[in-house]
Amino acid sequence: MPNTVVRVAEVVEEAPGIRALRLVRADGLPFDPHPAGTHVDVIGPTGILRQYSLCGRPDDTSSLLIAVKREPDSRGGSEALHTVAENDKLEIGEFRNLLSLAPDADRHVLIAGGIGITPLLSLAYQLHADGAEFELHYFARSRESAAFVSLLEERAEFRDRVLLYFGVPRGEQPAVLAEVAAGLSSAAHVYTCGPEGFMEQVTGVFAPMVGETRVHVEHFTAAEIDPSGDRPFTVELDTGEVFEIPADRSILSVLTDNGIEVFKSCEEGICGSCVSGVLEGTPEHRDQCLSASDKASGDQMALCVSRARSEKLVIELY
Ligand code: FES
Repeated sequence: MPNTVVRVAEVVEEAPGIRALRLVRADGLPFDPHPAGTHVDVIGPTGILRQYSLCGRPDDTSSLLIAVKREPDSRGGSEALHTVAENDKLEIGEFRNLLSLAPDADRHVLIAGGIGITPLLSLAYQLHADGAEFELHYFARSRESAAFVSLLEERAEFRDRVLLYFGVPRGEQPAVLAEVAAGLSSAAHVYTCGPEGFMEQVTGVFAPMVGETRVHVEHFTAAEIDPSGDRPFTVELDTGEVFEIPADRSILSVLTDNGIEVFKSCEEGICGSCVSGVLEGTPEHRDQCLSASDKASGDQMALCVSRARSEKLVIELY
């Protein structure tokens, strides 16, 4: 599907190094409906593509809100979006969603670290609209460095549901999280987004209480992978075509070099674009996009980073 041209309708400096961009379609049409937790590829003025969570109200199709944290060590995509001004044009890709609200939860617990507040904001809007039981815990270095604090404190949807934690050292966070976890039933679902170490702590505290499959994690960054033990394996498509995957190549790169069309975006195991079905064989999951239960079932894999435990995989492209 072609990208959509959007216009920057509003720029708000949310916190030092974090700006919120409100985007509208350049053709004046509404956006497609999108569920809470959706993210989208944004192609900035330098052509670099990055994914951003939509953090506005999910039922608002007139505009999209993203928050961009300047990451000086990244490929430059966030830096470029810190230079755009109102009325500049950008492009966005398709909506994607890897963070869905669980319909069977008796309570939803949202736990954000820093800029990880963005996908959880849209979940909170939806939970409020649904009349669901939820609470939002937001950890940040300081009030000044935290985005959307005024909105969280002032909006009726949030102000009685939000607990803010400023300056809690990483080593002391598990004790704070354990207090939150203590009052939960095993029917609660937990959603977290933030730095990797933060999310590991959240998972470590909540998974024993509610079960690993009830802790939903949204990743921003790719996992570090040690390729030294990688070995070749064979991939057969459900069409019967067979490809040898060398130790130093991904399934995605071999398929695309052979003219096979595969959906892709981040190529880092984050966005979920390249996830395909596994009909035979055992994948070795290295992505950050599939849930723990998806990985355990072994019937899907991300072709850009994951490999094989078996000699051969039979794959169905989505
Ligand atoms: S291309 Fe993004 S997960 Fe594979």
